[in-house]
Amino acid sequence: MTDIHPFVRAFREAAPYIHYLRGKTLVVCLDSALSDEAALPLLAADLNLLAALGVRLVLVYGLQRQVEDLCRQNGIGLAYHRERRITTEAVLQQVKQASGSVAADIQAALSLGFAHAPQPVKRLPVVCGNVLWARPLGVWDGVDMQYSGQVRKTDAVAVNRYLDGGSIVLVAPVGISPIGQLYSLSAYEAAQEIAVAVKAEKLLFLIEENGIFGQDGNICHTLNAQEAEEILRSGCLKNDTEQLLQAAVQALDGGVSRVQILSGRNNGDVLRELFTRHGAGTSLSRQAMTRIRTAQESDIPELAALLAPLEEQGILRRRDKAELERHIRRFFLLENDRQLYGCVALRTFADAPHIGELECLAVSREARDSGYGEQLLAHLLKEARRAGIQRLFALTTQTADWFAERGFQAASADELPFERQEIYRSNRRQSKVMVLDLSLQAA
Ligand code: COA
Ligand code: ARG
Repeated sequence: MTDIHPFVRAFREAAPYIHYLRGKTLVVCLDSALSDEAALPLLAADLNLLAALGVRLVLVYGLQRQVEDLCRQNGIGLAYHRERRITTEAVLQQVKQASGSVAADIQAALSLGFAHAPQPVKRLPVVCGNVLWARPLGVWDGVDMQYSGQVRKTDAVAVNRYLDGGSIVLVAPVGISPIGQLYSLSAYEAAQEIAVAVKAEKLLFLIEENGIFGQDGNICHTLNAQEAEEILRSGCLKNDTEQLLQAAVQALDGGVSRVQILSGRNNGDVLRELFTRHGAGTSLSRQAMTRIRTAQESDIPELAALLAPLEEQGILRRRDKAELERHIRRFFLLENDRQLYGCVALRTFADAPHIGELECLAVSREARDSGYGEQLLAHLLKEARRAGIQRLFALTTQTADWFAERGFQAASADELPFERQEIYRSNRRQSKVMVLDLSLQAA
């Protein structure tokens, strides 16, 4: 196979995501630790690029670090209850000050960042919207939380009006009550509420860490809502991250289809997360992201691309497009996060209805050893049983052990249905014949 330049490969990989995100609304929550001179300009450049690609952006910024710094500098004491800061009158003044200052820094960075955009002379308008209505948290366990509040309502109409006008909407984690009182909000909660209210396509949390780390200390590349709740129950997260993950789960509950948590510090991670298959951080969705489905004709180009390297190595026999077209309904495809990672096909024989053949089991190289092969086999066995098949053959040149470890036994080509024996003998692949007796297997 001719070598493909890495840029070409990357661009082709990104193209469907670029297409998909055009015109979609993304809510991005920027952790307070990222509003500094090192992170902001790089992030601003990437956000500008997203806006130039037609993504509608709402940017919610955190203030925790700045408020704590200001309070320390001005000798104002800070108290917390149930991990939430108690916002006294004096602390609220610092919130206002920090909010104005961070908003100004973000706007300055965004107007510098347009150098990477396709239309460098066009500066993106930024609207600072007071789109959040708040109410006080009230008294918690006998503790008055004072001016710490929660979101009462989001003015989604206003957000959409600003977005329709081509602006980035910048939102502070503060909200106003109907009687004109200002309350300090959690940025995570504010971002989640806005994402749900405006029916955002995605909610991105940009943080210091690379994503969410599980109990085993490894980064969780993907999580469904149930897995996220298990992590929350395990108590292995530090407080901030726990609140973040809770907000992520609430966003999924509220109908946001994808929440992505990633580093806002690593240069370009936002682009890696959005425009590569594997992303850079943790991607959350309500349902499990892996599914196996029947193939259809529109899958043929991708299926052919999955099989091509294995055919070139002689591991699978060659199938041209016409053959794939003829037999596409035999194929089951394994997708993760809408990307194709594996396939398997079930062949049946008119003259031997109780016999089936597992064909063309393949998992793309970068996704091997994650159990996908096993999942495809389990799915095929279910389909074979449903079709009344009792003996399932697999012909393989290099994978006999894999099948043997999963209950298949070596068999003779004479045991194959007659029409298949003829094909077997006419080609020179000398595949090993393996068979699984489904009537002996527990369903
Ligand atoms: N022979 C024996 N064992 C093999 C193997 C082979 N050719 N290929 C992979 N394995 C083992 C791995 O070492 C791993 O073992 P471990 O769990 O002890 O570490 C295990 O199988 C991985 O299983 P799983 O994750 O379920 O499989 P997978 O998603 O990596 O997919 C194949 C397995 C065989 C489908 C994949 O390797 C593949 O696409 N191979 C090329 C195509 C092929 O040979 N197809 C079969 C012809 S029909
Ligand atoms: N780029 C794709 C998306 O934005 C896939 C991202 C996968 N990310 C991950 N952390 N697993 O939907």
